[in-house]
Amino acid sequence: MPDLSQSDPAKVAASRAAVALVRDGMKLGLGTGSTAAIMVQVLAERVKAEGLNLRCAATSKATTDLAESLGIKIETLDEIGWLDLTIDGADEVDPDLHLIKGGGGAHLREKVVAMASDRMVVIADPGKVVDQLGAFPLPVEVLHFGFETTRKLIRRALDTLDLGQTEVLQRLKGSDPWVTDEGNLILDLHLGVIPDAHALARALAAIPGVVEHGLFLGICDLAIIGKADGTVVEL
Ligand code: 5RP
Repeated sequence: MPDLSQSDPAKVAASRAAVALVRDGMKLGLGTGSTAAIMVQVLAERVKAEGLNLRCAATSKATTDLAESLGIKIETLDEIGWLDLTIDGADEVDPDLHLIKGGGGAHLREKVVAMASDRMVVIADPGKVVDQLGAFPLPVEVLHFGFETTRKLIRRALDTLDLGQTEVLQRLKGSDPWVTDEGNLILDLHLGVIPDAHALARALAAIPGVVEHGLFLGICDLAIIGKADGTVVEL
């Protein structure tokens, strides 16, 4: 198991506090990203130490591989059906617990899993807490089919919302297009600020080539923010 003492203490603190919410017999959703990866390690420690009997669904291939390498069995969401708790990271968290997610390109599966859970808990370091969403580029997963047309429709929607100065950049991995676990592409919207997240979410969802955007509005129930001194605050 990787050595947690070498990991970011803020992320470890948030992960420990979230994993403390896990009870024997629970059905869990496991998020994606560097913070979620630490959470999976903390969870694996508890499973091993306490012999917890859990059923887990993962939000990405990366999380599946990590969890299984640490002895946590992963089932599909449909095998489990409904989850008690999902624990995931975020790129931004605002005071209303609205989120930007998808920095790791997994926001589609993350949203499906979070919305199939009684409770979604976000774990993050203080750098993720913002007054207003938008400094982090908003990921939008789009189909290959009609990719440039979808980009134009996104630009048009942004114009309508007076966000017309936004760069809409295709995410790359090296010099190749980033391809998600679901086989789609990603556009990152460099907005700066998002004055009305609900209006933007509606506008993006109305574009057929958009598979899913990274705005999580009214989905997160609790954010646990870890600090470098090992303490946490809850939002
Ligand atoms: C992946 C995500 C991640 O949860 C988000 O990018 C935060 O990642 P990290 O914990 O590495 O900062 O949404 O799609």
